[in-house]
Amino acid sequence: MTAAREPIGVIGTGYVGLVTAVGFAELGSEVYCVDIDHAKIELLSRGEVPIYEPGLAELIARNGERLHFSTSLDEAVAGARLLFVSVGTPPTYAGDADLSAVLAVVEAMPASAEHALVMKSTVPCGTGRSIVRMLVEAGKGDLAYVSCPEFLKEGSALADFTHPDRVVVGDDGDGWAADAVSELYAPLGAPLVRTDVASAEMIKLASNAFLATKISFINEIANVCEETGANVLEVARGVGLDQRIGPKFLSAGIGYGGSCFSKDVSALKLLAANSGYHFQLLSAVTEVNELQKRRVLSKLTKRFDALAGRRIGLLGLAFKPNTDDMRGASSLVLAARLSAEGAQVRAFDPIATDEARKIMPELDCADSVEGAIAGADAIVLVTEWPQFLALDWAAVAVAMSGNVVIDGRNALDGRAVAAAGLDYEGIGIG
Ligand code: UGA
Repeated sequence: MTAAREPIGVIGTGYVGLVTAVGFAELGSEVYCVDIDHAKIELLSRGEVPIYEPGLAELIARNGERLHFSTSLDEAVAGARLLFVSVGTPPTYAGDADLSAVLAVVEAMPASAEHALVMKSTVPCGTGRSIVRMLVEAGKGDLAYVSCPEFLKEGSALADFTHPDRVVVGDDGDGWAADAVSELYAPLGAPLVRTDVASAEMIKLASNAFLATKISFINEIANVCEETGANVLEVARGVGLDQRIGPKFLSAGIGYGGSCFSKDVSALKLLAANSGYHFQLLSAVTEVNELQKRRVLSKLTKRFDALAGRRIGLLGLAFKPNTDDMRGASSLVLAARLSAEGAQVRAFDPIATDEARKIMPELDCADSVEGAIAGADAIVLVTEWPQFLALDWAAVAVAMSGNVVIDGRNALDGRAVAAAGLDYEGIGIG
């Protein structure tokens, strides 16, 4: 936390960029943030935060003097040697990662032996090597290149920055930039994986693909539990105590959402296919997840002859709590399928309603959780926001027309729900 900390540039001020910027500013670095989005930079310069992430606004305010925002690369290049790239790499129509934003940054960089591009954006394995080739061809071969993938989770991003399980730094060069990046992370005391660029890139993709596989696996176990009378919560507890497996990411539910898992599973699968290898397991991971998002439908149709005209309250829309991110949210599939069946869907989310409306303008959103529950034949817990877990189930039973409660996250106290006279069903609780 001294003035001697290395200054950095951060190109791209989305989740990863902002958290990286604020995290390093908190550790004492001057941070030069760059984004092509003028409106966003203006907002940030005024101290406003364009995304919802717990603690982020406070930390931006606290580090206001060390954080500099601009739409031009010049200030960052003048002020810092290490330029972290954290622009989006969304999926293309073909399912590969769209690298156009990354390549625009590469193109915009000046030739320099004093600077390094530090890749935080998730890119297919082999991207670093291609970028280095492009830099050489453009007469900018002296620029150093480091891969430093990010593992933060939305909703707990700042804690993840401060307490990473590991820091991965990959380089194929003479090492000055990788040394400097490693030094920046040193105060966090995390295990450091120094490796080559391709392996660093693959560590990121393999980590997300493995986590997605773990979720699809427990979801299939949950589905079998329903057929056999076992309880997936008990099963996950017993399985997770095996240290080779571990207890995390064994929560069965209505499928994983978010911008990363589906994108990275697909990117890894296509990367393998483009290299001549058919990654069979990942096809199943994706398919299981898509079916899992629809599983609530079959639970509802078991109870109602037809869904047409039934009023269904959705509790939560965001892909997980503590975020307003709607990308890949299971609620999108659920709401669309229910509406297609003719059900009247009314949803409530404490934070994500505005984002949800951008994607589903026709969705009927209530202003309060009570509004989503009132008169409902069934309610479905979609996102496990704390306020839903604390509901007064006796009052819910009075407010509903019907009595069906589907817990899509196994997060409610099933006994308390049933004690209020409601018909409770979780996922995999046979
Ligand atoms: C994920 C990874 O966890 C991060 O390490 C990674 O950095 C990030 O993607 C990324 O590549 O940017 P994130 O998508 O923010 O993070 O959120 P997660 O907490 O991983 O949750 C993803 C989805 O899986 C959520 O819909 C969540 O509800 C679901 N999930 C998670 C389950 O259904 N079961 C679980 O046991 C855990």
